[in-house]
Amino acid sequence: MLTTLAVQNYRSLRDLVLPLSRLTVVTGANGTGKSNLYRALRLLADAAHSGAVAALAREGGLPSTSWAGPETVGRTVREGTAPPQGALRTKSVGLRLGFAGDEFGYALDLGMPVPERSAFIRDPEFKRECVWIGPVLRKGALLADRDGPVVRTRGTDGAWGREPHQIPVTDSMLTSFADPRISPEVLLVRERIRSWRFYGHFRTDADAPARQVRVGTRTPVLDHDGADLPAAVQTIEEIGDSEALHTAIDNAFPASRLSVRPGDDGRFELQFHQYGLLRPLSAAELSDGTLRYLLWVAALLSPRPPELLAMNEPETSLHPSLLPALAALIATAAEHTQVVVVTRARPLVEAVRAAADDANLVELERDFGATVLADQPGLLDRPAWHWPKR
Ligand SMILES: Nc1ncnc2c1ncn2[C@@H]1O[C@H](COP(=O)(O)OP(=O)(O)OP(=O)(O)O)[C@@H](O)[C@H]1O
Ligand SMILES: [Mg+2]
Repeated sequence: MLTTLAVQNYRSLRDLVLPLSRLTVVTGANGTGKSNLYRALRLLADAAHSGAVAALAREGGLPSTSWAGPETVGRTVREGTAPPQGALRTKSVGLRLGFAGDEFGYALDLGMPVPERSAFIRDPEFKRECVWIGPVLRKGALLADRDGPVVRTRGTDGAWGREPHQIPVTDSMLTSFADPRISPEVLLVRERIRSWRFYGHFRTDADAPARQVRVGTRTPVLDHDGADLPAAVQTIEEIGDSEALHTAIDNAFPASRLSVRPGDDGRFELQFHQYGLLRPLSAAELSDGTLRYLLWVAALLSPRPPELLAMNEPETSLHPSLLPALAALIATAAEHTQVVVVTRARPLVEAVRAAADDANLVELERDFGATVLADQPGLLDRPAWHWPKR
C-alpha cells in the first residue's frame, strides 16, 4: 500500500506531501488543485510506461507546468503590504514526483533539457531517479540511483555494482533499466506502478464507446473509456463478485436488473431491465447518469483488482440520490485495492465517510496560489519525505 504521495513544482502543487491510506478522498473548492493532483499521479504512472516526458511535452513542457508563483512568499506579501514579485531564481527548475509505501519508495526529478543538444526543447530530461527500500529515502536504503545518464544499483549483498550503466536522459530508469538479474526491485516497482488504474471522464454521448455493441472477450479490467462494458460486466458475473454486482445495481436502481446478451455473432449487448418497462434497455438507450454508474460498477468490481485505483470526479452527471450507492461500491472496492477518489461533491465525501469510517479525508485549499492541505480534524500527520538532491 502507498502511504505517501509527494509532488513538487507541478502547476499549483508547489510542494505537497500527501498521506494516503487504503481509501483516500481528496476534495476542495474549484481551483484548489484536485485535478492537478490526479494528473500528477498519472504522470508518475506514465514514467513506468515511458510516457512521462511526452505527456509533459504535450502539456507545454516544464515552462508551462512549473509552479507559476514566486520561489518564496515574503512576509510583506503575506501581510498584503506588497504584491507578489518575481526574483531571480536561485533553484533549478524541476518537476519532482514520488511515492512511498511500506516496502518501496520511488522518486523522479525532471529538469530542463540542454537546448544546444536538441530541438526538442519541450522534452524535459531525467536528472535524478531513485528506488529505495522502506518508507523514507535514506542513503543506506537506496537500491537504484540514477544521476543523469548514469545508473548505479546495489546488489543483494548491499554493495554498489562497480560498473555504472548508461541510459538515455529522456527515458525513465524504470523502463530503460529494468533488468531482473541486476536490479529485480526496479522491475518490481515498475510492475507495481503499471498495475495502477485511472478512471475519469467516461464519455456518455451518443457516440460514446460504452454505447457501442462490440465482440465480447473475457475482460477482467474495464478499458479506461468503458468500450468493453458488456464484456466486463459478464466477466464479473462469471468469475467475480456477482453478488456485489447485483447489490450495486439494486442499491442504485431498486427492482432493476442488469444482464448481458451474447449475440450469435459474438457481440455482447448490455440489457438493463428497469422496473416498469416491458423490454430491457440497451446501452445506447440508457441515460448518461445510468450509463456512468454502470461504468463505475464495472471498474470498481474488477475481478483483477489493481494495486491502486484513482477516480477523478466520479460524481459527474450522477444525481445526488445515487451517491450513497456509489460510495458503498467504493468502500467495497477498497477492501481489495487502494483507492484515491478526487471529488468536489460534498455529498459524495459524506457518503464515502458513512460507508467507510476509516476513509482518509484530505481537503485541499490554496495559500497564495499554492495547493496546501487544509487543517482539518482527523487529518493524518504529514509523512516524512526527502527528495533526492541534484
Ligand atoms: N503553472 C501553474 N502554476 C501555478 N498554478 C497553476 C499553474 N497551472 C494551473 N494552476 C492553477 O491550478 C488551478 C487549477 O487546479 P485544478 O484544475 O487542479 O483545480 P480543481 O481543484 O480540479 O478545480 P475544479 O473543481 O474546478 O475542477 C487553477 O486555479 C490555476 O490557477
Ligand atoms: Mg478539477
